[in-house]
Amino acid sequence: MQKLQRTYWNGLSAEYQRVMSISLDDFHYGPQIPGDSRLRILPPLHRGMRALELGCGAAQNSIFLARRGLDCTAMDISREQLDAARRLAAAEGVEITLRNAPIERFAEKVDGLFDLIHSSHAFEFIEDPGATIMQCAKFLKPGGSLVISTVHPLYNGDWEENIDEDGNVCGMGLFLPHYFSPPDDVRTKDGRVEVISRAYPVSSWFNWFRAAGLEVTVLSEPAEQSDGTPPYTSPDWADNEGELAAIPGTLIVAGKAAGR
Ligand SMILES: C[S@@+](CC[C@H](N)C(=O)[O-])C[C@H]1O[C@@H](n2cnc3c(N)ncnc32)[C@H](O)[C@@H]1O
Repeated sequence: MQKLQRTYWNGLSAEYQRVMSISLDDFHYGPQIPGDSRLRILPPLHRGMRALELGCGAAQNSIFLARRGLDCTAMDISREQLDAARRLAAAEGVEITLRNAPIERFAEKVDGLFDLIHSSHAFEFIEDPGATIMQCAKFLKPGGSLVISTVHPLYNGDWEENIDEDGNVCGMGLFLPHYFSPPDDVRTKDGRVEVISRAYPVSSWFNWFRAAGLEVTVLSEPAEQSDGTPPYTSPDWADNEGELAAIPGTLIVAGKAAGR
């Protein structure tokens, strides 16, 4: 599974960084939704705080935090994504510690504890989010925060035409075959599975945070940003035909470790 993710993201990296428009001036949580300047989910940021980003891509969120004086480590399974992060950080004149590792094994690549561990749309690519959340909690300082945004379970449904009593089409509706086990988003090329993105019920995320001993401080299902340019967008995401106004595409969960 990790080999699949690495190959897929190494192959996609150049295109992803070219097509996506990802702000360095706001902290982003996902496609078409507002950033932290509006959602206000991050804990208060102070110079010298230690932050760890998991599945960082080109590390735009870590660059945003490093510009505010945080000591940032960012990790990804893809060397191509990390090369993009290295170039972007250099162009922005900030220093970030970059590590090439799967999220599932982040603990082997870090020293000490963090004030903030964060991840934007990477946990859907890992095998066992609950186990990794448990591990994250062990690497938080007392009072430290874990902030994860990931694909919302409704987003893994299919859009279908609604049919009224007379058999006429009356708009589109979402069909989700199984809420408790939402279908995987399996991406294929030439009949071969390239990558799998998984979604889980909202309560699973809540329970994983609680099982890890974290107080859940935020559970957010933002609707798409209706004005201005969202901090994470692309022409395709912008052309979502109203889907993201009708259902949440992203789920954000934040939790706090005990103490302080
Ligand atoms: C949708 S991108 C998001 C990247 C970045 N967080 C952003 O917001 O632009 C998903 C990222 O997760 C990384 N990834 C996927 N599976 C991973 C794994 N098991 N361990 C670490 N990184 C992984 C990919 O290489 C990719 O950079």
